[in-house]
Amino acid sequence: MKKYKVGVIGATGMVGQRFVTLIAQHPWFELTEVAASSRSAGKKYEDAVKGRWAMEAAIPDCAKGMIVKSAEEDIGDITKNVDFVFSAVNMKKDEIKALEEAYAKAECPVVSNNSAHRWTEDVPMVVPEINPDHIDIIPSQRRRLGTKRGFIAVKSNCSLQSYVPALHPLRDEFNPTKVLVCTYQAISGAGKTFETFPEIIDNVIPFISGEEEKSEQEPLKLWGTIENGKIVPANSPSITAQCFRVPCSDGHMAAVFVSFEKKPTEEEILSRWSSFSSVPQKLNLPSAPKQFIHYFEEQDRPQTKLDRNLENGMAISVGRLRPDSQYDYKFVCLSHNTLRGAAGGGILLAELLCAKGYMD
Ligand SMILES: NC(=O)c1ccc[n+]([C@@H]2O[C@H](COP(=O)([O-])OP(=O)(O)OC[C@H]3O[C@@H](n4cnc5c(N)ncnc54)[C@H](OP(=O)(O)O)[C@@H]3O)[C@@H](O)[C@H]2O)c1
Repeated sequence: MKKYKVGVIGATGMVGQRFVTLIAQHPWFELTEVAASSRSAGKKYEDAVKGRWAMEAAIPDCAKGMIVKSAEEDIGDITKNVDFVFSAVNMKKDEIKALEEAYAKAECPVVSNNSAHRWTEDVPMVVPEINPDHIDIIPSQRRRLGTKRGFIAVKSNCSLQSYVPALHPLRDEFNPTKVLVCTYQAISGAGKTFETFPEIIDNVIPFISGEEEKSEQEPLKLWGTIENGKIVPANSPSITAQCFRVPCSDGHMAAVFVSFEKKPTEEEILSRWSSFSSVPQKLNLPSAPKQFIHYFEEQDRPQTKLDRNLENGMAISVGRLRPDSQYDYKFVCLSHNTLRGAAGGGILLAELLCAKGYMD
């Protein structure tokens, strides 16, 4: 298989560093451009991230000596040297929207980690195991943008990457109607470490700006349908969420309560979870977990520290399924927020787009 030339815009940030690390060891991708703000532009990548490299692995050799370009000023140069880019810039929403459209209009596909385009009606927001068919909207988006190759595809917010996968295999037959979820989210989701966020030590902060709205609404776009060149969100289940920041480095946990139109048995739920497999598994995409949903029988699992790295941080852990007195059932879910929930989810989406011919 040919290697795709790949750039990362926002390559010096927390999510960008994760993209760089994953691309450096990827069988299909070769890192050819790194870009960030004018503060980093012109520096060697290793100098631009000096003092803020947050990955466990060292800076990849292939990235160290690369000269960081300006994501805004050097679009022409960057797009000449890549087949597509990952976007992980941290700017104002309108600026991100404009920047990502500028890359798409320069005939460079953009796989974005950002929320700016998640509600653009013809931009697919994809969790590859859940709604891989939403990429079929790309031809409509290309018509709007006036492009032959360029388009934008996005991944959804990290908070929902644990409980939406657990609810998804139950939708067809049992139809979840009402969901209550409380999330316990790691500090890397805010681009922070314990060194840069000492206020979180011995503390829980019961507010993450914008996160509850995303946790309640984005699942409905994931479960939506394509109609007349737009993705129309599903109208159920009704979801209510509270999102807390907790003193964990990585891994978002969710406590979930759910009621169904047709109540399944516990055995039926467990069987749907264990047998669930989707397009990334069938296509054998390099970053796809073999088993997407892992159920733990132990009463005290999943645990953030023990289980977040399951299948390279790309699988979902679930546990503690039991009946509830007010909803039909309750259970606990966990996913790695910077792997499955951010860069890893973006990489898997790019693999799907490559496998389906959208990056050619
Ligand atoms: N962290 C997570 O787990 C997570 C999960 C989901 C979504 N997100 C979203 O992903 C995005 C990146 O998050 P992060 O945590 O990686 O942020 P971050 O650590 O603050 O990094 C931001 C990146 O954007 C670049 N940047 C800032 N202003 C720019 C400009 N004017 N032009 C070009 N590049 C610019 C920075 O470059 P310099 O280094 O040159 O300043 C840096 O590379 C954010 O929108 C965030 O909301 C994060």
